[in-house]
Amino acid sequence: MVNSVLRAIRNRRTIKTFRSDADVGEENIQEILEAGRWAPSMVNSQPWRFVVIEDEEVREQVSEIDFPIFLKKGLREAPVVIVVCADTEEDPKHYVEDCAVATQNIALAAQSLSLGSAWIGVHGERAEKDLSNLLDLPERFRPVSILCVGVPKDIPESERKDISELVYRRVD
Ligand SMILES: Cc1cc2nc3c(=O)[nH]c(=O)nc-3n(C[C@H](O)[C@H](O)[C@H](O)COP(=O)(O)O)c2cc1C
Repeated sequence: MVNSVLRAIRNRRTIKTFRSDADVGEENIQEILEAGRWAPSMVNSQPWRFVVIEDEEVREQVSEIDFPIFLKKGLREAPVVIVVCADTEEDPKHYVEDCAVATQNIALAAQSLSLGSAWIGVHGERAEKDLSNLLDLPERFRPVSILCVGVPKDIPESERKDISELVYRRVD
């Protein structure tokens, strides 16, 4: 890999198990949030809001929401959980894309700081409502994604489709 951005993109993995005893550090948290803040968004509306959860009890409560079982472990173990929410009134049409871009920026920033992350999509009315209630989000906010951040216990393998299956070039 020719540079650190490409290395972070290529090496980032979805981490399912974290060292709960390893601190992420406030400086790293700030760097990570800064990466989210600098994501692009439709007409620069920046509709994202980041809820940072470090409290063990609150992380435990998040893990009790209806998310896939194996992610619950990550939610309990990772010392930092960031919920990326959208202020839907700031960008009613594009807030999902905007928040997804910010989430990926956060994941890549974590990777670049030798931390791991796991992206959990907030899907379904039940999960969305339970999370909004737990975090006491204003009515116009919608939780879009959750990122567990911490020191990985284990880095899994991943794979991708071959580039030839993905790219089409128009030839005249
Ligand atoms: C929008 C989105 C939602 C995701 N939700 C889940 C999830 O609910 N459960 C899960 O195990 N992984 C989830 N992931 C992670 C993917 O499973 C993972 O990115 C994919 O398997 C590729 O693995 P890698 O990230 O390690 O390369 C999600 C990723 C994205 C981008």
